[in-house]
Amino acid sequence: TGLTTIDYGFVNTSATKSAITYIDGDQGILRYRGYPIEELAKNSTYLEVAWLLLYGELPTADELGEFDEKIRRHTLLHEDLKRFFSSLPHTAHPMSVLSSATAALSTYYEHQSDPANPEHVELNTIRMLAKLPVIAAYAHKKSIGQAFLYPDNSLSFVDNFLKLNFGVLSEVYEIDPVMSRALERLLILHEDHEQNASTSTVRLVGSTGANQFSSISAGINALYGPLHGGANEAVLAMLARIRDSGESVQRFVERVKNKEDGVKLMGFGHRVYKNYDPRAKLVKESADEVLEALGVSDPLLDLAKQLEEIALEDDYFKERRLYPNVDFYTGVIYKAMGFPTRMFTVLFAIGRLPGWLAHWREMQQDPQTKIGRPQQLYIGAPHRAYPGAE
Ligand code: CMC
Repeated sequence: TGLTTIDYGFVNTSATKSAITYIDGDQGILRYRGYPIEELAKNSTYLEVAWLLLYGELPTADELGEFDEKIRRHTLLHEDLKRFFSSLPHTAHPMSVLSSATAALSTYYEHQSDPANPEHVELNTIRMLAKLPVIAAYAHKKSIGQAFLYPDNSLSFVDNFLKLNFGVLSEVYEIDPVMSRALERLLILHEDHEQNASTSTVRLVGSTGANQFSSISAGINALYGPLHGGANEAVLAMLARIRDSGESVQRFVERVKNKEDGVKLMGFGHRVYKNYDPRAKLVKESADEVLEALGVSDPLLDLAKQLEEIALEDDYFKERRLYPNVDFYTGVIYKAMGFPTRMFTVLFAIGRLPGWLAHWREMQQDPQTKIGRPQQLYIGAPHRAYPGAE
């Protein structure tokens, strides 16, 4: 009908208005509700930033206290849901476990999942912030064959998460404040990033009237891909491969430039940032600091720095304005903390959860929201006669 133009990858099309996150990709600026990411990462907690994303303002001490308290009260999973994990193989990727358990969570709250009911929406926002970290930690425990721990609601959000991941039954788990603060900071850096692929997925699924659990489970699946959140796992695999193969960094970069076997420099490049990703800058700054404080030295960090140095000097990367993105250095820090590589994207998902929830809610409240339904340009056969038909 000639009514449409193609925009592969939505490079030029805005699907919505949004008041949550501002990005200036040329200048490397990222703000949540107007506040610079650098300030939030330095001064706030994960839950404080979650509140900011969800409700538009930084919370007062009372508001934050109440929010934190409510989340602590909702951390327990139904015992039946715990059995869901045993039906999956221990080799299951923790991202698949997280997305399927999130979808399964929906089955426990179907009677309270009406997107048009503000009380349901509020309750499920709290439920997901409380329960998804527990599911994530159980996905980790399952993958290493250890027993699940019950949440310890005397602990802060991040400390509880650390204990669920690294605590062992019948042993006291000592929280390491360096690790706790470092993880909090990384989670804050991931909390939102406007209309990225997973957030757009959450909005598209949500636009059909699907509930929060279903929408966010879909977002987790979108994040899993190596061009999106899966890049943090792919970066570590790439670094380990270079180390183990004995290939020089220079030679690897040459292969990337020649697009040999479609090899890419994972953790580099971004659809929006054509300048250094401000999150990557913060992660890089803290990588040395955190590894030193944790008493870890990792040759993969040196390898990553070497790769960055060579790439930033190279015309291929300069011409295409390819810089390290948030995923380039995070994996080295997660590894130093003791997370297995397969958990890296799960950590990204827990970080991004408040953003997904905030966008789902913003979409529901926008009177202009319609079901998401892209056009296409049909290029197939014109009408033709079915064989044998008159
Ligand atoms: N290594 C080598 N070449 C690259 C890379 C890279 N990482 N990224 C882009 N290019 C090249 C690409 O081949 C193309 O070259 P040419 O013009 O010769 O065809 C040019 O740069 C433009 O790239 P594009 O693929 O058109 O850019 P895009 O905006 O469609 O893709 C991206 C953005 C992030 C998917 C891509 O840069 C990429 O695949 N990066 C590696 C994966 C990665 O690190 N993803 C994490 C993104 S940040 C966090 C998140 O969203 O999860």
